[in-house]
Amino acid sequence: MATATARANLALVKYWGKRDATLNLPAAGSLSLTLDRLRTRTSVELHDGPNDELLIDGQPQSGKALSRISRFADLVRGPLGRSERIRVVSHNEFPTAAGLASSASAFAALAVAVPAAFEVELSDKARSILARRGSGSAARSIFGGFVRMNAGAHADGSDAYAEPLAADCPMHAVIAVAQAEAKKIGSTDGMEHTRATSPYHAAWLQLVERDLGEVQVALQSGDWDHLALLVEGNCLAMHADAMAARPGVLYFRPPTLLAIEAVRSLRQSGTPVFFTIDAGPHVVAFTPPSEVSRIAAHFAQLPGLAEVLTSGPGAAAQLEITP
Ligand code: DP6
Repeated sequence: MATATARANLALVKYWGKRDATLNLPAAGSLSLTLDRLRTRTSVELHDGPNDELLIDGQPQSGKALSRISRFADLVRGPLGRSERIRVVSHNEFPTAAGLASSASAFAALAVAVPAAFEVELSDKARSILARRGSGSAARSIFGGFVRMNAGAHADGSDAYAEPLAADCPMHAVIAVAQAEAKKIGSTDGMEHTRATSPYHAAWLQLVERDLGEVQVALQSGDWDHLALLVEGNCLAMHADAMAARPGVLYFRPPTLLAIEAVRSLRQSGTPVFFTIDAGPHVVAFTPPSEVSRIAAHFAQLPGLAEVLTSGPGAAAQLEITP
């Protein structure tokens, strides 16, 4: 049996659009921060039964969730010529129902644990490529801290992997978890629909390349004002692209707008803070560690929030040594 822990990440420059859906190749790069608080721990065991098995937080899964895991396991079994089935037992140490980037930590943990269960050692680069096949954002969760995902240019995806980014900008996250039903349109479907129908998509992809360079420079110099302009701009441009699809994809809910306003008014009164929002209603504020409790208290007063989570930067995905 092999057990791995991986953490979710939140993107400062978003991945939104694929150049190849089969190999799950992103159309542009992205940049994220891995978060300590959003952890998934996954054990993988080989067995001789007829089917793969998946338990998430104690609940046996079937249908789409299970077949996604089976297809992922085939990426490891196929080239090895192995046929054993796997039993996956996974625990999320954060609310999965809230839809907080759980595919990133889930597939990063699997990209470490599945090869290990078959006694295959992979480099971090190979793990990142494998994780990407499960979910694009998972490629980034192989690494800790700030991470850059390369879009790559090769048709086989051999250059579409993530790498750690040296930047010692002290950044924590405060997450305003909106009270909302489970995501109606997941990121995979949302970004594919946007690519196919949004008139803004080409402009979005051009913007990403520019933002990637500028965010890296602003991270090196710790320029919070410039980061705020770039990261909020990139997030809102991603959502503008999605909203312009036909029909439009709108992830914001009323608490999302309240939290955006709260972040902007804190910034106006001098607090270094800016927000980002993934394919859901939750708002994530990035801020230096000294401001975390003040921002969390501010968020806690907003109506319509289920909870407020805080997190520092997280480590890379790791294999646990089991005796
Ligand atoms: C909005 O990685 O979930 O969170 O590759 O189809 O599994 P698939 O998509 P996924 O998309 C993440 C989209 C995002 C932005 C980001 O994390 O960069």
